[in-house]
Amino acid sequence: MKKELYKWQKQQLLPAVPAVSVNNYRSASSKALSDAIAEKLEKQYGVEALVVKADVSKYEDCEALVKAAVERFGDKIDVLVNNAGITNNCNWIDITHEAYENVINTNLMSFLHMTHLVLPYMINHSSKDNQCCIVNTSSVGGLTGVINQADYCASKSGIIGLSRALALEFAGRGVRVNVIAPGMIMTDMLRGVNQDELNALAATIPEGYIGDVSDIAGALEYLLTAPYVTGQIISPNGGFVLQ
Ligand SMILES: NC(=O)c1ccc[n+]([C@@H]2O[C@H](COP(=O)([O-])OP(=O)(O)OC[C@H]3O[C@@H](n4cnc5c(N)ncnc54)[C@H](OP(=O)(O)O)[C@@H]3O)[C@@H](O)[C@H]2O)c1
Repeated sequence: MKKELYKWQKQQLLPAVPAVSVNNYRSASSKALSDAIAEKLEKQYGVEALVVKADVSKYEDCEALVKAAVERFGDKIDVLVNNAGITNNCNWIDITHEAYENVINTNLMSFLHMTHLVLPYMINHSSKDNQCCIVNTSSVGGLTGVINQADYCASKSGIIGLSRALALEFAGRGVRVNVIAPGMIMTDMLRGVNQDELNALAATIPEGYIGDVSDIAGALEYLLTAPYVTGQIISPNGGFVLQ
């Protein structure tokens, strides 16, 4: 990763200053993971890392998160990756309004809050030769409908609309905005599903298997280093949805 960071810095896609990272968590289990990632970043790659607790569905928590980042590392932010997401898996008759509001607040409002709060710290130093980059995580659910996930699909389609509009608004000002729309990827979101259901899911994917987080990391690396790509959706999904 350090080699990659140097490569990006050499191409002037990221600034030639020591790379730093701010990782956000909400739950205790994610804190342990965030701390472990921060330790690895620092020890193995020399990347100074700050870990901040914030419920990104709340504007005031997002404000505190950005404030903590700016106080620690200064008022220039180069990259924002919005990734928080939850799902309900409930039919539209039985779902409560609290449940779908929670999905919209977590999956969509958080992306509005974070882009709104971070963009001022991007456009204060971005240019054609010093690009800043926002990558928003949507889903194949944002490209097509998924039964019992109306709220999730609404949030993930909303992310695509938000990203396209911001890509246009900030084009020519050194900020690119793109979307990753994963298909089925083996993470905690799928780990609760039993093996028979996983096999049934895998059978619906043309490539025949559930993807790995490295498939998403590869798409992210591409978007961070592709100076002419903005307003686009990359969907690592094994052929599940064709665009
Ligand atoms: N896995 C898939 O098949 C798949 C497919 C399409 C799209 N996606 C999208 O990929 C993204 C990552 O999901 P994942 O698969 O890695 O699921 P995951 O393992 O369940 O991770 C979700 C992450 O979102 C965080 N989060 C949720 N609510 C939050 C909040 N209010 N504030 C701060 N953080 C919050 C969680 O942190 P805490 O643990 O601290 O709550 C957790 O780290 C999501 O946007 C998801 O919709 C996943």
